Amino acid sequence: MSKGRFYLTTAIDYANGAPHLGHAYEKILADVIARHQRMRGKDVHFLTGLDEHGQKVQQTAERQKQDPQILCDGVAALFREMLCLLNISNDDYIRTTEPRHKKVVQSLLQKLFDAGLIYRAEYTGFYSVRQEQFLHDKDRKEDGTWPEMFGEVTQITEANYFFRLAKFQPWLLEHLQSNPDFIYPRFRQNQVVEFLKDPINDLCISRPKTRLTWGIELPFDKDYVTYVWFDALVNYYSAVADKDRWPADVHVIGKDILVPPHAVYWPCMLKALGLEPPRRIVVHGWWNIAGAKASKSAGNAIDTLDLARKHGADAFRYFLIREMTVGQDSEFTQAQFETRYRTDLGNDLGNLLNRLLNMTGRYADGIVPEAKLDEAPEQAVRELWATTATKYLALSSDYQLKESLEDLWIFIRSLNAYIEARAPWKLGKSEDPTDKARLQSCLAHIAEGLRLTATALTPVMPTISQKLLADLGVPEATTFEGTLVWSNALKGKKLAEKDILFPPIIEAESSAKT
Ligand code: ME8
Ligand code: MG
Repeated sequence: MSKGRFYLTTAIDYANGAPHLGHAYEKILADVIARHQRMRGKDVHFLTGLDEHGQKVQQTAERQKQDPQILCDGVAALFREMLCLLNISNDDYIRTTEPRHKKVVQSLLQKLFDAGLIYRAEYTGFYSVRQEQFLHDKDRKEDGTWPEMFGEVTQITEANYFFRLAKFQPWLLEHLQSNPDFIYPRFRQNQVVEFLKDPINDLCISRPKTRLTWGIELPFDKDYVTYVWFDALVNYYSAVADKDRWPADVHVIGKDILVPPHAVYWPCMLKALGLEPPRRIVVHGWWNIAGAKASKSAGNAIDTLDLARKHGADAFRYFLIREMTVGQDSEFTQAQFETRYRTDLGNDLGNLLNRLLNMTGRYADGIVPEAKLDEAPEQAVRELWATTATKYLALSSDYQLKESLEDLWIFIRSLNAYIEARAPWKLGKSEDPTDKARLQSCLAHIAEGLRLTATALTPVMPTISQKLLADLGVPEATTFEGTLVWSNALKGKKLAEKDILFPPIIEAESSAKT
């Protein structure tokens, strides 16, 4: 039964280069949120896509002596391959060159134009191609020069069309004040409020075709195309314009595109159109490699996706979610990936499963026995699970995904400590009937502990969780409802004989050799 609808999106990636670590992380983060919501019974619609227009793409195409659409088709194939590699469960993929998108952009522009919210004016000013935006004096550094992030800055004079953004500044401030959770984490919302302390300018939403042809033509002036940010932001709405899904519940984006596009332009565009703002914007930080932002221009982060190819999407997903606090930056190293793979995944989880399968095979014909004897260690395991489950659900619904995994691993390690303390390999040798009952309880508790762990882990590691549950003789978990409580659901189940969930990393491939 559906518990309401949940519409979430990611940023749509620029089509001027191959996907890298930053794109992979964002799609995984959104996917984990989507899968969590589905398991909470929500009717989820999960959108991602590609941002294909604008000067960057036009320039890349020119440099490569290629038709921009062909360039975009090639890049779209690479991004879709990445989504497949990472097991991303998006329901839709939007490309801004698709007719369904262009049609909506043009109709919204016409609506704003007819309402007098778009006007034409002559403008002289500075322009950054890299950021595809006009600059203002307040964008300068203290010494008067432009920050490095703007790349080459040129002065231009031209007639353009402007959206009356400034008119909506008081509304936006009021909206932020009455919705303190609009942006996650909260310190990002404070940055937006800070930005809005100064008056904002109207937004130039056109580019003359003399300068840029690769864009959506303005419906009211065929000599212009639409500014790429106006075009790109509309994807969140155009993809569901015929689906009755608006407003979005969550937009997942990186910190570099919060202010002003997502936190200022987009809510004001929607307000001007009489549409509701998104309910929430979740802002993640940057993955750095050797201290520098992983990026297309640095070309430092494409190989990282090889880790998913070699060691499985789930290990890669686990690593990225386990390492990064949502909202903060994180440093990526292959050595750290390997450490997590060996310890958290191989030792703590993989070995525990094999100990269970092995002991159950040896002492119980591979069948999960009944837990008849209940002593202090069993009670402690169950009590820890009860608090872990509650905390796991609370943390993961508040985007504290790293913390939710940390907590889950405390439970997994306690299962390891429990099996060590109970030592079924010793109990198995005893003739004492109490020891036999202890052995059976121990096997049953480990099996159930692993079932609960795999269920909870499903949004982060869908394939591994399903495999683990299959080893325990049960189907994949599709809901959290009733499945996260301690039970004897496994009693009498026939277990697999052996399963290596995380094959050891071969030394020759490890970063340790370098
Ligand atoms: O900004 N770490 O596209 P994009 C984490 N087309 N996230 C990163 C990252 C890193 N090192 N590098 C990039 C655009 N990202 C626009 C978006 S939305 C209507 C239009 C994130 O390909 C970045 O923060 O440059 C953004 O959210 C996404 O990847 C796409 O970046
Ligand atoms: Mg970028």
